[in-house]
Amino acid sequence: MEKPAIMGGPKAKTVPFGSGARFGEAELQQLREALDQQTLFYWSGNKVKTFTQKFAGMYGMPYCVAASSGTAAIHVALGAVGITEGDEVITSPITDMGSVIGILYQNAIPIFADLDPHTYNMTAATIEARITDKTKAILVVHLAGNAADMDPIMELAARHGIKVIEDCAQSYNCYYKGRLAGTIGDIGCFSLNDFKHISAGDGGMVIMRDEDLYYRAFRFADKNYNRFPNLPGTNRDIALLAPNYRMNELTGAVAIAQLDRLESICARRNQYGDALTRGISGLPGIYPPMVLPENKSSYWFYMLRIDENEAGVSREDFCAALQAEGVPCSAGYIPTCVYAYPLFKNLSAYPGTHSPFDSPHYNRKITYEDGLCPNAEKILTTAVRLSVNEHYTDQDLDEVIAAIRKISAYYLQKKG
Ligand SMILES: Cc1ncc(COP(=O)(O)O)c(C=O)c1O
Repeated sequence: MEKPAIMGGPKAKTVPFGSGARFGEAELQQLREALDQQTLFYWSGNKVKTFTQKFAGMYGMPYCVAASSGTAAIHVALGAVGITEGDEVITSPITDMGSVIGILYQNAIPIFADLDPHTYNMTAATIEARITDKTKAILVVHLAGNAADMDPIMELAARHGIKVIEDCAQSYNCYYKGRLAGTIGDIGCFSLNDFKHISAGDGGMVIMRDEDLYYRAFRFADKNYNRFPNLPGTNRDIALLAPNYRMNELTGAVAIAQLDRLESICARRNQYGDALTRGISGLPGIYPPMVLPENKSSYWFYMLRIDENEAGVSREDFCAALQAEGVPCSAGYIPTCVYAYPLFKNLSAYPGTHSPFDSPHYNRKITYEDGLCPNAEKILTTAVRLSVNEHYTDQDLDEVIAAIRKISAYYLQKKG
């Protein structure tokens, strides 16, 4: 029996984790070209246009609209599908605020559906339990690079005549039965913030098949201005409110170069995450994240779960032991489900009001109580999150697996 480092034994991690540069000459060259255009406005320059064409091409979609962030991209998607005051949008309780910000800005009501305990994604069954006559859209969050089970969700949405928006902010090159997440619903949303698989500092994009949806999204990202000569009406024929979420040419330039790196980044993360799962599978009380059989995860992070009774160790002690081995990890992901945030507890998104929750267009009572999504709450109190990076080496992988196996064996023996 190897002694864990936390008990004074040798660390499983013997060398620093592999690391590497995210940006280089390719990004610099693109930035130079952007500046040489003598305009940084997307409609005048070529960088954002080139980027959106390239991304749409990579995803096999006819249309892509750029936005200033992932949050903006999701708001654009919601605006494009026509979400308005009093509508309900069903989404995940374990996500970034960026998933729900646009819902609230449209004065619509976020409705949270519970998650599968092992994929950490919403399912058709948990969504169906939340559908009402107010439901206008489902915003599926593919968490941490791993696809939700989309076929039954699409079937459910079709049955109820509601739109499906995919939040792929954490899920580039994430495959569902051979199809890319983001191309299955009506519209797919992505983030280029600095923590994602690829970064342009900030930025986002939406992709879609439908031409009309494309024009709506395009206009919604740009104050509802009409820049297309083929569309009826003048530039300033503004019928509805829309924000300015434009991407600028500098962001577009960096994003073009980043796209060339996307495939290898995601391939390595997929390989690393799947190998980590194989390496720790079967350890009592340690549950790797579940990727459905025909799917492929690009592991934005790696989140496993601890069953304290089976593993003989609390989630907190497991984490402390893993950190002592030299493997950075954290207990959980976000501290609570999104619906436990004060905004939802107080039913107040705007200062001094209960808007949008008391909207006369909504006209029904909503509360966000603890216990609303029991699986999601349990995930957050039992999960351990490990980082994944495309620069991590095979030695890093072997040592992380060895660390987890060593801690597991120690606490199992202690439990007897
Ligand atoms: C699932 C999810 N949705 C939306 C967002 C929002 O993206 P951004 O930070 O680019 O606005 C994030 C960012 O962390 C995210 O992880």
